[in-house]
Amino acid sequence: MSSDNLNRKQPIVRWFSAGRAGDIADRESRVIDVNGTEVAVYNLGGRYYAIEDCCNHDGGDISGGWVEDDVAVCPRHLARFSIRTGAVLAGPAYENVHSFPTRVHDGEIQVRDDRN
Ligand code: FES
Repeated sequence: MSSDNLNRKQPIVRWFSAGRAGDIADRESRVIDVNGTEVAVYNLGGRYYAIEDCCNHDGGDISGGWVEDDVAVCPRHLARFSIRTGAVLAGPAYENVHSFPTRVHDGEIQVRDDRN
């Protein structure tokens, strides 16, 4: 291996804990901090999904609303986001929110920051 390869910075893959599997009830969420960003982690039938918890319409906490099927409804002006993908499905929000990879590792729900 050349010294160039040894000196090249490798991305640090870091997983953030959202608690133990089962801690989040079905169709409920928990908010965690991921490198300074509030992320809502949802349980949909035993599968976990994580989206940025800030509505881009006017900064509402998406997790403060409710879940309909696999959609999170912002409590402030009723924008709708896909919990699975972060896609905005109905305004007044106008942009998708970031969707973070999740996994369950040794019984712990984990979220990865893949933004860079
Ligand atoms: S702040 Fe979310 S819809 Fe307005």
